[in-house]
Amino acid sequence: MNGKIFVVGLGPGDPSQITPQVSNAINLATDVIGYFSYVDRIAPKKGLQLHPSDNRVEAERAKHALTLAEAGSVVLVVCSGDPGVFAMASAIFEVLENNAPNWNNIDIEILPGITAMIASAARVGAPLGHDFCAINLSDNLKPWSIIDKRIRLAVEADFAIAFYNPRSKSRPKGFEKTLRLLKSHCEGDRPIIFARAVSTEEETIKYVSISKAKADMADMRTLVIVGSSQTRIIHQNNREWMYTPRHYPEKDSQ
Ligand SMILES: C[S@@+](CC[C@H](N)C(=O)[O-])C[C@H]1O[C@@H](n2cnc3c(N)ncnc32)[C@H](O)[C@@H]1O
Repeated sequence: MNGKIFVVGLGPGDPSQITPQVSNAINLATDVIGYFSYVDRIAPKKGLQLHPSDNRVEAERAKHALTLAEAGSVVLVVCSGDPGVFAMASAIFEVLENNAPNWNNIDIEILPGITAMIASAARVGAPLGHDFCAINLSDNLKPWSIIDKRIRLAVEADFAIAFYNPRSKSRPKGFEKTLRLLKSHCEGDRPIIFARAVSTEEETIKYVSISKAKADMADMRTLVIVGSSQTRIIHQNNREWMYTPRHYPEKDSQ
């Protein structure tokens, strides 16, 4: 009998932001695979096997999921946010591409979740309301030279930019370099937010401008959004909102 794999996004943290589709998949699962802190978000129950694992073992996790599904299990591969954004969905397909005949008949469903940049943007207003891009600042799976190039080109194209994985203990320098690049390439000062642990009890949101941004404002639980040249802060109802207008001026000032 062939089992099934659901690759699901649990959203940024608040259980009310888990989609009903993902909740249904959680109810059907016999096995849960994922990073420790994501597996911890699934309530244990009789008959449900939990298989937490450490960081940087995506391929092993994917093979484990496919092997269990091949034996008939309904496997839930859990991710934070969305499973297709810097997460396990790609890892499953990478393993499948290289081992296709073995696992050709396994049924796979990718169930979306609210990714960190969308949850963070909603907390501060609408900074991603015009064109934007997302860059993962981890150089574990790609060279720094490509990150450097993408940041320069994103600034040149005047995108708002969402940065995932800005800074970790093992990568203390990357975000410093990113801020240096932004400070030297962005014309004028522009708003930047540090949205940490969004939708959890530890949530903090910091608004600064690029000129005042410091590397230690970010850690691995932070999503950083840098505005485009058009992004602005307005005040309403005793609070600040950061937003990027839908229209772009006709005369491109870049
Ligand atoms: C490996 S990536 C996974 C992204 C995830 N698949 C998503 O769609 O949000 C982990 C990074 O996502 C961001 N992140 C995840 N959850 C977050 C949250 N609740 N608040 C702020 N940033 C978060 C952080 O930048 C973190 O370093």
